[in-house]
Amino acid sequence: MESPGDETASPSGLPREVLMSLHLGDTAPDFQVDTSEGPISFHEWAGDSWVVFFSHPADFTPVCTTELGRVAQLRDEWDKRGVKTIALSVDSVEEHAKWKPEVESYNDTTVDYPIIADPDKRIAELYDMIHPGEGDTSSVRSVFVIDPEKKIRLTMTYPKSTGRNFLEILRVVDALQEGDRGQCSTPVDWQPGDKVVVPPTMPTDEARQKFDDVEEFFPYLRTARIKV
Ligand code: BEZ
Repeated sequence: MESPGDETASPSGLPREVLMSLHLGDTAPDFQVDTSEGPISFHEWAGDSWVVFFSHPADFTPVCTTELGRVAQLRDEWDKRGVKTIALSVDSVEEHAKWKPEVESYNDTTVDYPIIADPDKRIAELYDMIHPGEGDTSSVRSVFVIDPEKKIRLTMTYPKSTGRNFLEILRVVDALQEGDRGQCSTPVDWQPGDKVVVPPTMPTDEARQKFDDVEEFFPYLRTARIKV
């Protein structure tokens, strides 16, 4: 078992080096768990949607209260993109139920998405959300964007001290969906409506057939618009 200050063991007692971290392109592990909205089976709950799965350190803490409210305020934006959101902390269903009205009143919103209860840290450990160097064995601010095929498309890890920018996470979802649609990439600071980047392996003649408004700056850097 882990003892205070022991950074070599995981909450389950397994040495940290035997726990695999998740990589982009991996299938997001499935799990069954209790949440603020009742028990779920993760893959079944996700269905055909994109998912933003994010952890936070603890209920009744200030930064987390702002974050969970912000995710709720952005409900229409998630819905427009076919995204379901789900949070996790290592607190119990009872604690989530007591805390949720405070998140809602502070942020003037309704938290209508599940908050996973993970007091035994089973899911937090599966997703490598426990970083003991960050102070204790509560979860850090991890984000997983998971596509409808259940592939992990983005991972982000923020420290406990720093609230995330969920508009950036929306922007990444937009970029991933646009990239999938056009089989292309998106450049720095890309926003919906901006030009995309042609794959460097695609000959420019082919790019001019596939895309509109192709501009060549270097043979490897061509911008374009996806045909509507
Ligand atoms: C917070 O949400 O404010 C917080 C939680 C854990 C550690 C630091 C900050």
